[in-house]
Amino acid sequence: MIKSQIDSLRRELELHNYNYYVLSAPTISDFEFDIKLKELNELELKHPEFFDMNSPTQRVGSDIAAGFEQVEHVYPMLSLGNTYSENEVRDFYDRVSKALNEDFELVCELKYDGTSISLTYENGLLVRAITRGDGEKGDDVTNNVKTIRSIPLRLHGDFPKLFEIRGEILMPWAVFDDLNREREAQEEQLFANPRNAASGTLKLQNSAIVASRKLDAYLYYMIGENLPYENHFDNLNAAKSWGFKISDATKVCKGLNEVFNFINYWDIERKNLPVATDGIVIKVNSLIQQKNLGFTAKSPRWAIAYKFQAEKAVTRLNSVSYQVGRTGAITPVANLDAVQLSGTTVRRASLHNADIIEGLDLHIGDMVFVEKGGEIIPKITAVDKNARILIGDKVIFIKNCPECGTLLTRFEGEAAYYCPNENNCPPQIKGKIEHFVSRKAMNIDGLGSETVNLLYQNDLLHNIADIYDLKIPDLIRLERLGTKSAYNIKDGAEKSKEIPFERLVFGLGIRFVGETIAKKLAFALKNMEALEKATFEQLIEVDEIGERIAKSVVSYFADPLNIDTIKRLKTHGLQMSLSDEKLNAHGTALNGFSIVISGTFNQHSRDEYKSMIEMNGGKNVGSVSSKTSFILAGDNMGPEKLKKAENLGVRLVKETEFLEMIGEKSKTIESFSGTLF
Ligand code: IVH
Repeated sequence: MIKSQIDSLRRELELHNYNYYVLSAPTISDFEFDIKLKELNELELKHPEFFDMNSPTQRVGSDIAAGFEQVEHVYPMLSLGNTYSENEVRDFYDRVSKALNEDFELVCELKYDGTSISLTYENGLLVRAITRGDGEKGDDVTNNVKTIRSIPLRLHGDFPKLFEIRGEILMPWAVFDDLNREREAQEEQLFANPRNAASGTLKLQNSAIVASRKLDAYLYYMIGENLPYENHFDNLNAAKSWGFKISDATKVCKGLNEVFNFINYWDIERKNLPVATDGIVIKVNSLIQQKNLGFTAKSPRWAIAYKFQAEKAVTRLNSVSYQVGRTGAITPVANLDAVQLSGTTVRRASLHNADIIEGLDLHIGDMVFVEKGGEIIPKITAVDKNARILIGDKVIFIKNCPECGTLLTRFEGEAAYYCPNENNCPPQIKGKIEHFVSRKAMNIDGLGSETVNLLYQNDLLHNIADIYDLKIPDLIRLERLGTKSAYNIKDGAEKSKEIPFERLVFGLGIRFVGETIAKKLAFALKNMEALEKATFEQLIEVDEIGERIAKSVVSYFADPLNIDTIKRLKTHGLQMSLSDEKLNAHGTALNGFSIVISGTFNQHSRDEYKSMIEMNGGKNVGSVSSKTSFILAGDNMGPEKLKKAENLGVRLVKETEFLEMIGEKSKTIESFSGTLF
């Protein structure tokens, strides 16, 4: 009864996922979907005996921290030969024609510019997802791939028992833009293009973050012994009917003219697609003909890629300016004569760092090539040295900060230069305040960058602690700030005193300490005093804290100005330690228990479970023995451990049961539905 209710909800949700992510034609609202998903999740939590790793509830991701297992490809993942001109496409056609010596059809497809993936389905279930790697073996990223909604976890229809299907994982432009905007605000390094963003995301250890990045996937190549049809195009159509996302652009072409029409059409039309493409792929349709043509060592003889020309423009370099970020990082920017590129006017281009400038041998007044390609920020790819009539000044990366004059420094192994004058360099002062008040840190409304600048100019703000000394009459006196805004700021500052300690640690703006690292530090050290005193050796013991971060934390707290700021924040009543609830989570429920953690989890990370065990009097041990009290068992538990547990009669405890044991409530789907859409 319950089982059939669960099964029917699973099937219904799978269908809605398919309608939404593959067909882009949802038939119910997101709200209705969430309600059904929540219903299923609750049933599954109550009935762990019906657990299924391919259930729609399993797409939210868990955050185990472990490297990826390397897996050998059953069929190597080869690349394609590239062509850049119609003549080269003609050569390919002639080669195929000569080798086959019979009629043949071609299939033209878009060449998606993402990161390739090989999916294995057994009995209609996704069992493995492996990256290309070196072509022979790749990383097993199954858990991350499961978070991608357009990849079916379970197929419908009449599919072969076992097959592989390959395709491209992509980050849509809109998601990419949002992600980079967010990273810019956090002064994190930007992704150069959606391809890097997609492959970077796929390699993240935390699949909950992968889920939030909203990747998409198109499939374009099926391999297996029992494919339904004798040709590629029909097989792709069959795959479409089983639930895969197959590009609608895929077309059978007879003869070269149709191929060229396809190329010309998509060279323009691709700009309206939601994802990046960098060319087209031309494949021989018949599988028998493909087999007869075979492979060279690197690529198939039955397919070829035609790459679109990256859009380029030539313009003059007028000057180079240098921007100083919150952490003092210096970004060089080229100022150019305005030029049209891919439908936008370009006046500035990123020069990335000193090494790139040196490599280009740039001189002021040079005619430079600007490219957009897959990149959102145009970049200078070369100098037209023949166009030099008079050679201008060579562009030499600045030695001193353009804002405060301090000598710049470079960290070992890093390309960027920094201004070390953290506490007196205006953009750094203002940037630190903006970071401190930002939504993910202290969330103080009313202090946008313009207001911060206004208060800074009027000598009211120099430091994050000054925020708490602001007086209403001083604020109202400022011409551009109304009474309402003044109260808004005071109110926001007051409320921020309740913001948890871990967010305060993030808000301090310590170089390399992002949101996650701040949390790790806060939970490991528990209060500000311990954090201030923590030694380098102590810090690198903390999970995910390496030498670079540890050094940065030590040097932050070695600065008396920072210590003074923190003292002032303390006087103002900000949260200087983990909340009582988090600190006193000590219980006795697990006194005397030796517990092994195994598998992946949905509700908490492994580290969180580890600290929960310790906080409740238990001991977390690494391997199963006769002394093990029980195994906290997640999904995909290692087969070795499972066997050992069975042999020794060690009990498996699912996470919901475990949470009940220690008196913690299980999270309902609500608490992570934010990552679902
Ligand atoms: S077919 C044996 N079709 O381009 C060849 N590849 O340089 C199998 N790609 O590694 C690949 N769109 O990552 C094929 N429609 C498409 C493609 C495509 C993008 C990528 C893929 C491959 C690379 C080849």
